[in-house]
Amino acid sequence: MTALETYLIKLIKAQGPITIATFMAEALGNPRHGYYMKQDPFGRAGDFITAPEISQMFGEMVGLWQAVNWMNMGRPEKIHLIEIGPGRGTLMQDALRSLKAIPGMMDALEIHLVEMSPKLKTTQAETLKDYKIPTWHSRIGDVLSQAKGAPILLIANEFFDALPVRQFQKTGNGWHERLVSLDDKERLSLRLAPAPSPEHLIPSALHRADVGSIAEVCSIGDNIMAEIAEHIQQSGGAALVIDYGHDAHGTGDTLQAVKAHKYVDILSEPGDVDLTTHVNFQRLKEVAHACETRVHGPTGQGVFLKALGIDARAETLSTNASEAQKSTILAALHRLTDDGEMGNLFKVMAVTDQSLSGVIGFEE
Ligand SMILES: C[S@@+](CC[C@H](N)C(=O)[O-])C[C@H]1O[C@@H](n2cnc3c(N)ncnc32)[C@H](O)[C@@H]1O
Repeated sequence: MTALETYLIKLIKAQGPITIATFMAEALGNPRHGYYMKQDPFGRAGDFITAPEISQMFGEMVGLWQAVNWMNMGRPEKIHLIEIGPGRGTLMQDALRSLKAIPGMMDALEIHLVEMSPKLKTTQAETLKDYKIPTWHSRIGDVLSQAKGAPILLIANEFFDALPVRQFQKTGNGWHERLVSLDDKERLSLRLAPAPSPEHLIPSALHRADVGSIAEVCSIGDNIMAEIAEHIQQSGGAALVIDYGHDAHGTGDTLQAVKAHKYVDILSEPGDVDLTTHVNFQRLKEVAHACETRVHGPTGQGVFLKALGIDARAETLSTNASEAQKSTILAALHRLTDDGEMGNLFKVMAVTDQSLSGVIGFEE
């Protein structure tokens, strides 16, 4: 039994069943035993691999996207470059390498990282040691107040999928919240709340769903998107969200647990396995629209990266490369862009102020 499981069992005995959102928040972010708080889970030797860890080309294309937007914004003298959930800092490092080639851009940048994990902050500092020193924040609200009045360029890759969601299941008498409780052997188990939840908690598009359907609601994600979009609406800028997910409201249980690149039971080994859900881009879009920003996409990651020129970048990197290096570059290109790989499952959505139209990477 993991240390976090012992803690959760005590918590449930004392306070009663907890929501899926509380379970996810504890499993990933508990200050002592949370998954991200105590380890570096990335890479082949870890639990999963993200796009920036597959190839430098991913971060370079994101950097190029930021550069084109900065130029289209009229090259503001001061701009806050923010990454939320920066992992090992690899994406930011590769993006900054692209940005160095753009005259004036490095001087304009103030770099901010929003990260909850002390362990990953140390890794990020090491990865980025050759660049301007970033400022770290625990919450997006903190960096946005610091950036008040100035435009931002923001990137969130595989961040929204790590945010806690609540789950509700439709029954004959309404929507009941799924809870983590204890079974008769005092081990973690799932059950439904005995009383129905108010229907207004469920997106209205799902009210007529069939009995048995599961709805997921990520209020934390909505709030973070609203904070970003409000800032962009008032002070200008552009945000790029990349994640796996769907671009229409839908039902289904998308909560998954991964350890050593394999799916495992969501209740097994809490604190030692990664937990994610599919991001509801339709919902993020609605929130951004409500803040009067312009939304671009979502589009597939493959389409986005190809529009930015990833094929040409792969060719340049392959020039003078050994045969082994060439095949690594081609394999990475395929994995990042192919429809059967990350090219379609991963979606890219941008939120900009109204003045930015025809944003690169999106067919509009
Ligand atoms: C799946 S990793 C993605 C890392 C990186 N963007 C990449 O693509 O390699 C999720 C990142 O978000 C951070 N994170 C998760 N939830 C967070 C929260 N609520 N606040 C701040 N950081 C969070 C994790 O510590 C980690 O750095």
